[in-house]
Parts: sequence; structure tokens; C-alpha cells
Amino acid sequence: MKSHVRILGNAGSLRRGSYNQAALRAAKLLVPENSEIDLFQLDDIPMFNEDDEKRPPSSVVELKKRIRRADALLIVTPEYNYSIPGVLKNALDWACRPHGDSAWSGKAAAIMGASLGAIGTARAQYHLRQILVALNLFTLNQPEVVIADAAHRFDENGNLIHEPTKQLIRELLKNLVDWTRRISPALESTSASSTATAGHPLSGAAPA
Ligand SMILES: Cc1cc2nc3c(=O)[nH]c(=O)nc-3n(C[C@H](O)[C@H](O)[C@H](O)COP(=O)(O)O)c2cc1C
Repeated sequence: MKSHVRILGNAGSLRRGSYNQAALRAAKLLVPENSEIDLFQLDDIPMFNEDDEKRPPSSVVELKKRIRRADALLIVTPEYNYSIPGVLKNALDWACRPHGDSAWSGKAAAIMGASLGAIGTARAQYHLRQILVALNLFTLNQPEVVIADAAHRFDENGNLIHEPTKQLIRELLKNLVDWTRRISPALESTSASSTATAGHPLSGAAPA
């Protein structure tokens, strides 16, 4: 029996009717067995000020607590001017401070995003991947979930109605859960058939 995997989901849009929030809600319904997505809204996170990092606002204390409680992260990003929105970058910055007290470090992560355009946040996702390297998150490579032409993939109530996109999100989440179990020793399978016992996958041990 595999251990339960808790995923914390954030979307980088505060917009009512956000496609990225809608994609995150859709993901919550598409998780594999023995895993769950807990949602955290970024609405109450103020602008980062390094003067305040040792006495952060309660919304940031709560964000860091929720990150630490999670085994993995799902970050859903819009694309603003070819990059990630300030709202998301601001939250990433808050939760990595003060120096030596980052809540992100060492966790598994997956990213996806939705945009109105044809490129579906691909450019923003590559910026996000780079930022997650700085945060020492271990980001899943594939599948890349770039939801283009979002206005036609969700209905007027924000339900994801595009079956191939649902299937891609299912695959992303399955890979995230498998990846999390591989890199988190505490979550390894206790079953004799486990393939995740050959050492840390990032330490150079032979792949399972
Ligand atoms: C400031 C700003 C910049 C944007 N830049 C891009 C962009 O570079 N590429 C893109 O595909 N869409 C861009 N868009 C359009 C977004 O894809 C669209 O607003 C999308 O709905 C935002 O995500 P949301 O629905 O989750 O709020 C931009 C929107 C805003 C407000």
C-alpha cells in the first residue's frame, strides 16, 4: 500500500473567473488514489518587504505552514508579458525567507498553466521552472500541461470541458505522486514490490 500524498495547489491569479484557478479546481478532481490537493489562495498575501521578513504577516505564516504540511506542490501559472504574474512571484519570495527558513526547499513540484493565447503559458512556465531551481524544488519535467485557447476549454461556470486536457492533468498528477514517493523517503512504499528503495534518485543511484 502506497503512502498518502498531500499536494498543496496555488494558482497565480486573483481574478474572479480565472482560468488558472479553474484548472486548479479541475486538478483537485483528477488526483490519483491515495492523494489529495489542498488549495491555498494568494489573495491575502501583501507585497514582500525584506524589513518584515522576520515578522511576516499571518497570511504568510499560514502559507508557510501549509507548504510544510504538504508533500508536494502544484503551481498553476497564468502568463503575464511572457512571464509569471507578480502575485505568484511575490508568494514564492515570501515563503523562501528569511534566509535559512525556506518552506519550499526539497519538495516535489509540478507546474501547469492556462492562457487565452496559442502558446498556453509555455514561456511563463519556463521562467517558473528557473525560479523553482533557486527555491530548491524538484520540479517534474513531463508532461508539460500548457492549456492554450482557455476560453474554449472551460465552460461559462469554469468547468474544464476539454477531455484531452483532463487526461493530461491526470497524467501530470500521477507522475507527481510517483515522483514525490521516489524523492521523499518517508513516503516510500512499504510493500515488498517497491522500486523506490535503491537510494535517493538524485544521488546518482541507478534509476528504479
Ligand atoms: C498584464 C497581462 C499580461 C498578459 N500577457 C500575456 C502573455 O504574455 N501571454 C499570454 O498568452 N496571455 C497574456 N495575457 C492574457 C492572459 O492569458 C489572460 O488574461 C488569462 O485569462 C489570465 O489568466 P487567468 O484567467 O487565470 O486570470 C496577459 C494578461 C494580462 C492581464
